[in-house]
Amino acid sequence: MLSVSGAACKGGPEMAARIVGSGSYLPPHTVANCDLESVVDTSDEWIVQRTGIRERHLLDEHELPSDMGVVAGRRALEAAGCVAGDIDFLLVATTFPDMTCPGTAPFVARELGTGDAPFFDLTAGCTGFVYGLAVAEGLLASGLAQCVLLVGSEALSRVTDWNDRRTCVLFGDGAGAVVLRSGPAGTGVLGVSVHGDPEKALLLHMPAGGARQPASHATVDARQHFLQMEGSGVFRSAVPLMERALERALAKAGLTLTEVDWVIPHQANQRIIDALARRLGVSPDRVIANVDRVANTSAASIPIALDEAMRQGRIKPGDVVAMTAFGAGVTYGAAIVRM
Ligand code: UT7
Repeated sequence: MLSVSGAACKGGPEMAARIVGSGSYLPPHTVANCDLESVVDTSDEWIVQRTGIRERHLLDEHELPSDMGVVAGRRALEAAGCVAGDIDFLLVATTFPDMTCPGTAPFVARELGTGDAPFFDLTAGCTGFVYGLAVAEGLLASGLAQCVLLVGSEALSRVTDWNDRRTCVLFGDGAGAVVLRSGPAGTGVLGVSVHGDPEKALLLHMPAGGARQPASHATVDARQHFLQMEGSGVFRSAVPLMERALERALAKAGLTLTEVDWVIPHQANQRIIDALARRLGVSPDRVIANVDRVANTSAASIPIALDEAMRQGRIKPGDVVAMTAFGAGVTYGAAIVRM
């Protein structure tokens, strides 16, 4: 949460994309590792040792990604001292929307009351929020928008195969959001760098439900509407890709890691977070991690971690935060932001 004066919400001639408020939402229903022991052949010990995850929040039957996005969005608007009518562009980073068509964004827009402001879903897997920062920066710099609401909202529990112990222990649901406005140069997004490796497209995918394999009785019977992941392949790629993106974003920002106060990596696995910190030579107390409580919330993971750290007073206004992520696609990217 970052609160700024109302003046910051009136825009201006400056060009930097500044985060002026953040919010997040986790569904109240939590599921501990031991609860999963009766669902699949797993154990609390295995999950903690291999992932660092202890519990995750899951949506109730009647909740939707848009519902979570609306709460996170409202909290971000409140922190920014803005109202929904100030938003002139809404971006929703998500992997599995309310409806395949028209997505999640229109439902968030309708419930928030953003009027005729444009909106769209941004699908870049777990890198969705960082991709969203790049898009928001471009929208603000071009003058196409003056006030962007960027939401990451994910309900991967809806596409998790609860018979597959290799994936079902990993994911959680939740949403995070930030409001971005133009601010003075040297504040906000100092450098952002986004990338892809399409050769790795099938490392994490859902085989059916798209044009390649439309839904049919056969695809349902074959359990092809769930996420399938080559976990160790993703694991091996994650650290070098996040490191590469971070180096490029730092170069764009004209900064070195020693000038960064906090690193927020995508929260997929504590072992990946620790390996990244070691490789970067960053002390663990400068790395924000909440994967133990929220598990992997995909595109929502960084904005949730950011918002929690802001509200806890760990990250303070003026701090430089390096965010880095990787995900399905394979996508990867990083952003250096002065809060
Ligand atoms: O946001 C991006 C999306 N995904 C990720 O970031 C995930 C990245 N990958 C990972 O985090 C790790 O690869 C996993 C946590 C998914 C797996 O950890 P691992 O150390 O790579 O384990 P593994 O896949 O090599 O499996 C080791 C063993 C296997 O048994 P065998 O073949 O050695 O007998 C698995 O069947 O662990 C078994 N296993 C489990 N055992 C108990 C896999 N899942 C479980 C489980 N409980 N939940």
